[in-house]
Amino acid sequence: MINRYYLLTLVSGFLILIPRLMHSQPLSDKPLPVQLYSDNGDNFVVIAHRGASAYYPENTMSAFKAAYELGAEMIELDITLSKDGEIVVIHDEKLGRTTNRKGRVVDFTLEQLKELDAGSWFDASFTSEKIPTLEEVLIFAKDKIALNIEIKTEAVTKNTFSGIEERSLELVKKYGMEEHVIFSSFDYRAISHLRELDVDIPLALLYDRRQAARKLPSVLLDIFNANAFNCNYRKLSKKWIKDVSAHKIPVFVYTVNKEKDMQKLIESGVSGIFSDKPDVLKMVVDKLWETK
Ligand code: G3P
Repeated sequence: MINRYYLLTLVSGFLILIPRLMHSQPLSDKPLPVQLYSDNGDNFVVIAHRGASAYYPENTMSAFKAAYELGAEMIELDITLSKDGEIVVIHDEKLGRTTNRKGRVVDFTLEQLKELDAGSWFDASFTSEKIPTLEEVLIFAKDKIALNIEIKTEAVTKNTFSGIEERSLELVKKYGMEEHVIFSSFDYRAISHLRELDVDIPLALLYDRRQAARKLPSVLLDIFNANAFNCNYRKLSKKWIKDVSAHKIPVFVYTVNKEKDMQKLIESGVSGIFSDKPDVLKMVVDKLWETK
């Protein structure tokens, strides 16, 4: 006679296995250039653009924490340098749009930047929000969530050493995150510098018309020895899709907040989407994954 416990184990085993067997096809067929902490096998990355920036002030710890809680698998953040050479997280070259101060970020020391209110421009309830440092974000993200660290063009110089690239790479290594981050930049010098500094660190080229000079993504990735191609979703032409598919290049597109667009892009084979609404994206991805 079959023991009741044995039968129960067998049935629950099948219940766990059947949905897995149904997912014969991942959402993207390109290898991911970065390791995620959570992996359900869909081979697709839900990226929170500047954190969960539809609901919280962008590039703040609240936006990053919310992104993680809402199920994002990666956080995208922007880094630049303060006057005293500290690496701070903010999108614009100037402070005006996202803080209560005017002027260029690079003209303020970290101590001065830390005094600013980086939240009430978004909503009065976020008055105490501060500009984070890269180190603070790494401490939060370690063992939890992967990062796309975008190096802002204004912080890049012609030098490979001692600049934002080397300093941010050192910090990433200090926290053992080198397999869980991907660096990107619109300034391809930053990509070259990082590759010179580290042969393995994952790198993404952000499409820039001038530097790309009509070259296909596969050609560009080859030149810069990068691992992924990031672009505005409106720029993703049939020609590019053909090229990246043929070369199995992971493509991450920004910034997509509408469900319909998300679904279309996933079906076209992109490996990840940057969204201000990672919860909406996760819902779309999960629905598609369930029906695969
Ligand atoms: O890194 C993806 C996307 O964030 C690039 O555009 O303007 O938000 O830096 P932007």
